[in-house]
Amino acid sequence: MDKIKIYHLLKEYDKIGLGSTVSIKAWVRTKRGSNTVAFIALNDGSTIHNIQAVAELASFDENIIKQITTGSCIQVTGKLVESMGKGQTVEIQAESIEILGLADPQKFPLQKKGHSMEFLREIPHLRPRTNYFGCVLRLRHAMAFAIHAYFNEKRFVYVHTPIITGADCEGAGEMFQVTTLDMENPPRLPNGAIDYHQDFFGKFTSLTVSGQLNGEMCAMALGNIYTFGPTFRAENSNTPRHLSEFWMIEPEMAFYDINDNMDLAEDFIKYLVRYALEHNMDDLQFLNDMFDKELIHRLQSVLNDSFVRITYTEAIDILLQAKQKFEFPVAWGVDLQSEHERYLVEKHFNKPVIITNYPKTIKAFYMKQNDDGKTVRAMDVLFPKIGEIIGGSEREADLHKLESAIKERNMDETSLFYYLDIRRFGTAPHSGFGLGFERLMLFITGMTNIRDVIPFPRTPKNAEC
Ligand code: 4AD
Ligand code: MG
Repeated sequence: MDKIKIYHLLKEYDKIGLGSTVSIKAWVRTKRGSNTVAFIALNDGSTIHNIQAVAELASFDENIIKQITTGSCIQVTGKLVESMGKGQTVEIQAESIEILGLADPQKFPLQKKGHSMEFLREIPHLRPRTNYFGCVLRLRHAMAFAIHAYFNEKRFVYVHTPIITGADCEGAGEMFQVTTLDMENPPRLPNGAIDYHQDFFGKFTSLTVSGQLNGEMCAMALGNIYTFGPTFRAENSNTPRHLSEFWMIEPEMAFYDINDNMDLAEDFIKYLVRYALEHNMDDLQFLNDMFDKELIHRLQSVLNDSFVRITYTEAIDILLQAKQKFEFPVAWGVDLQSEHERYLVEKHFNKPVIITNYPKTIKAFYMKQNDDGKTVRAMDVLFPKIGEIIGGSEREADLHKLESAIKERNMDETSLFYYLDIRRFGTAPHSGFGLGFERLMLFITGMTNIRDVIPFPRTPKNAEC
């Protein structure tokens, strides 16, 4: 009984047996009481719920009880009994208390009162001790687990794609360079350029922006695969929806066309939402009550309705007819800005929308070109309050069309040699997409800033802890 968690105590107290002796190691959330008794609310992170330890002061050294303040870590041993108090079924009648670590009340920043999200971002090392962040981290875990469960049930193979790469998948040049060259005095070629042949990998390398290209190579052998790993973007976007380091889930499927791709994306997201509702209601209820009264309703409503599917051209038509004035003007060919996406999802349709067939000039080189010569078989899934949650496409399977797309964009073909080889040998129609894990977590938790759904956010000018 030494390692029992509060989650199990509260859930299985019948099995454990009222009256039996239990021992809990946990952090003190609050302590209150009178001259004769102390009530200590304890949380060990296994659940949003606390367990109350009741200590009769007469049975304890007064000094020990006095020292215990919010944030301290203690071990309480005692009898599990039915609680007389409101809001809890059982509590521990403390027989012994051991202090594992004190928290100076003058210095410990998480006192009882609620704290702003901005303040909590400044203490990322202590933020996991808050109720809200406990919920977020447990939900993050649940979603990661459900992602693997979903693909495993469908016999997708989890492929580990590399973090360090020589290719810019999105072709946007937003990569963090990886080098061991002496920055003060790098080796140079006769023409003055840096000689990357002398770098660690003998070439210019960066952190990956996406595992897709390697994922495609494996899909062309294993059929259905997915990657789930960290990706890195050196884009200078200081917004509530962008991180410099974020996690992405990227399935890649042989013999899927764009419609199969959309079907999978919709089914996948609904599975994850359903999983959270079925397995993590305690945490969702807390977030719903404390932060976002619409959260559970919004999650449920996504399950009940099909996502809208429209083309980019149809989306532009809707925006052109909108009564609303946009900051960025709308015209066929422009990239959709977040104000446009929000109008479509939140005002016009009021549910998730999948937009397909974007102009080729605003999308990546690898997307399948349509016969019209202007558009590609891209798909973006847009969500209320978040905007783009998924980006994907059917892939260009034709070697020559792919080569010309690379040339049109003045991209370096040599770094894509292996990728092109996949089209040389046994090419096949295939599709895939990337779900931003933290954007998903924004939807699942109702949080409004992406910095609040990842334990240690990396954003421009911030990699503190
Ligand atoms: O649309 P993106 O750039 O697509 C790709 O990277 C493709 N290679 C994916 C694929 O087809 N396999 O990114 C995919 C998703 C976005 O829809 C968004 O949810 C998320 O990744 N994302 C970000 N999330 C947080 N911070 C950022 N800076 C993000 N950039 C993209
Ligand atoms: Mg995108």
